[in-house]
Amino acid sequence: MIATYQGLCQGRVDAALESLLSSPRAELERLYAAMRYSLFNGGKRVRPLLAYAACEALGGAPERANAAACALELIHAYSLVHDDLPAMDDDDLRRGQPTTHKAFDEACAILAGDGLQALAFEVLADATHNPLDAEIRLTMLSALARAAGPAGMVGGQAIDLGSVGKILDQNALETMHRHKTGALIEASVQLGALASGQADEHALKALHTYARAIGLAFQVQDDILDVESDTATLGKTQGKDQAHDKPTYPALLGLDAAKAYALELRDQALHALRPFDQAAEPLRDLARYIVERRS
Ligand code: IPE
Ligand code: IPE
Ligand code: MG
Ligand code: MG
Ligand code: MG
Repeated sequence: MIATYQGLCQGRVDAALESLLSSPRAELERLYAAMRYSLFNGGKRVRPLLAYAACEALGGAPERANAAACALELIHAYSLVHDDLPAMDDDDLRRGQPTTHKAFDEACAILAGDGLQALAFEVLADATHNPLDAEIRLTMLSALARAAGPAGMVGGQAIDLGSVGKILDQNALETMHRHKTGALIEASVQLGALASGQADEHALKALHTYARAIGLAFQVQDDILDVESDTATLGKTQGKDQAHDKPTYPALLGLDAAKAYALELRDQALHALRPFDQAAEPLRDLARYIVERRS
């Protein structure tokens, strides 16, 4: 079920992304090649899926969330390119292939990340790509900017880098995870809901509760997989968190308690969706997938 839905959504968002990434001039071929390399290398597309699923849960046609889906994946791809740089996590492998700075070079990877980020905001703002009411577009833009910026993902990355070798208590760890990963996942659900054109206050509140739970669960599961998966399945080097002395849920609570916590968060997310009908089934499947995934 989730695999079929995932395939459908991947096809939809990849077609839309493809159209944004052809080099406008020969001199920029390498930059665009690095941006395409960072995007089209087998990501799970969880954030676009969440946007489509939230839009559908509120009765919106999924195509209404195309621009949001692209913008979210562009921000995510940029965050990974920069996360892998030597100055940050210094990783060589991403999605089973050399990281962007390894396949190209560091300067090119930094610029590719910058370019992907700017494109995300362009695609949301531009009425050709995002043909929704101007007011909805503006709300989407400010939600994505906040989630990506210092109050969201970038802030979380700063906390992450500042915490290496430190022992964080569970509150501080939760704050870090909610920023570095949760914020963009929350924005994915919010943007998808807004794209439906039918997001009332009650629905947005329930979806926010859902998104907060799965946003944290997603990073808890990422931490778990770093411990118990393997490099081939993950497509990224297993065991890097421990090697870099990163604070993680398994390190703080132990593996079993971290797994139990991920399941508890899944249940909180499912509970928040109780007022929704069948149309929210993809969102329910995604909550289960996030804590059951093996990569
Ligand atoms: C990895 O994200 C980085 C985190 C925020 C934990 P994903 O697990 O969504 O990575 P891809 O896009 O599928 O490679
Ligand atoms: C990254 O977290 C979160 C981002 C904002 C990119 P990680 O550093 O744990 O992600 P992976 O494990 O490298 O994918
Ligand atoms: Mg990191
Ligand atoms: Mg990393
Ligand atoms: Mg990780």
